[in-house]
Amino acid sequence: MDVLICTAKEQDEWCETLAACLPEAQVHAGPDAPACDYAVLWKPPAAVFAHQPRLKALFSLGAGVDGLLAMPALPRDVPLVRIEDCGMAAQMIEYALYVALRRFRRFAEYADAQSEGRWAPRGLRMREDFQIGVLGLGVLGSAVANALAGFGFAVSGWSRTPKSIEGIDCVHGSAGLDVLLARSEVLLVLLPLTGDTEGLLGRELLAQLPDGAALANLSRGEIVDDEALLEVLDSGQIAEAFLDVFHREPLPRDHRYWTHPRVRITPHVAALTPYSAACSQVAEKIRGFERGESISGIVDRARGY
Ligand SMILES: NC(=O)c1ccc[n+]([C@@H]2O[C@H](COP(=O)([O-])OP(=O)(O)OC[C@H]3O[C@@H](n4cnc5c(N)ncnc54)[C@H](OP(=O)(O)O)[C@@H]3O)[C@@H](O)[C@H]2O)c1
Repeated sequence: MDVLICTAKEQDEWCETLAACLPEAQVHAGPDAPACDYAVLWKPPAAVFAHQPRLKALFSLGAGVDGLLAMPALPRDVPLVRIEDCGMAAQMIEYALYVALRRFRRFAEYADAQSEGRWAPRGLRMREDFQIGVLGLGVLGSAVANALAGFGFAVSGWSRTPKSIEGIDCVHGSAGLDVLLARSEVLLVLLPLTGDTEGLLGRELLAQLPDGAALANLSRGEIVDDEALLEVLDSGQIAEAFLDVFHREPLPRDHRYWTHPRVRITPHVAALTPYSAACSQVAEKIRGFERGESISGIVDRARGY
């Protein structure tokens, strides 16, 4: 069995780790590999598909597949499989807990008060009264929602299809989204980028958040309308935005987000794919394919995730 691995960076490390996880295969690195049975990809050049007539499956080393699906050269009749969790849920939970606690315990307000030399204690509030909305209840969103609910916060989650998760108020559809937005003091975005979610959070929906809410976009920049977000940040309706992902990455040096006092930027690091867990998962799924078993994580290209 021949397996191609092609990544935009750290190619040697990925290749070495995959070869160790899949000793029964010949692992070839880079876009000029001979014809292979499987391709393992992260932001590959289009040329990678030029001499690959016999691929049985494609594997994305990321959870999001919007980039691969946008490639015209991507083979159409081959299953595309994405990474599921592999330690990324735990990282998303860390990020979400940081945002939730920072808002719930008013640490940003106290930092402002300190900068003005003001002693300004605020009253006690209870976790069960602090409303957090999670957009997307998939592998990562449901892990985040469960962790926050387990911590005692009041958590609502939004998905495309109806869901039932104990301890989470699950909603779907546009009516469900309206209800969730109106009460979310913290809104966490964990949706995939698809035709339906691109530009979803524009003026109309952002205006539905309560005054002083916080937004954390942890999935894809294109889901948020930047101009609309800057307007609600300027007005103070949104008190703080935690942005890990952007329309253009790296975020252009002259973008207003860099200097906006209410924006906290992280450089697309909310959840990184760990080499070893990702390669073990891919190796197990390749073995599953070889045995003719059904495997999880196959992307539904029509719905876009
Ligand atoms: N910033 C980072 O470092 C980083 C790292 C990893 C992943 N990500 C991003 O995180 C995203 C989520 O990952 P995941 O593994 O949790 O994905 P997933 O398991 O595919 O879950 C996607 C969730 O979004 C929901 N959804 C999709 N389209 C929707 C729509 N139009 N309306 C309402 N809900 C919709 C799905 O609803 P159903 O349950 O009804 O299908 C599902 O609950 C990835 O696509 C990627 O873009 C970012």
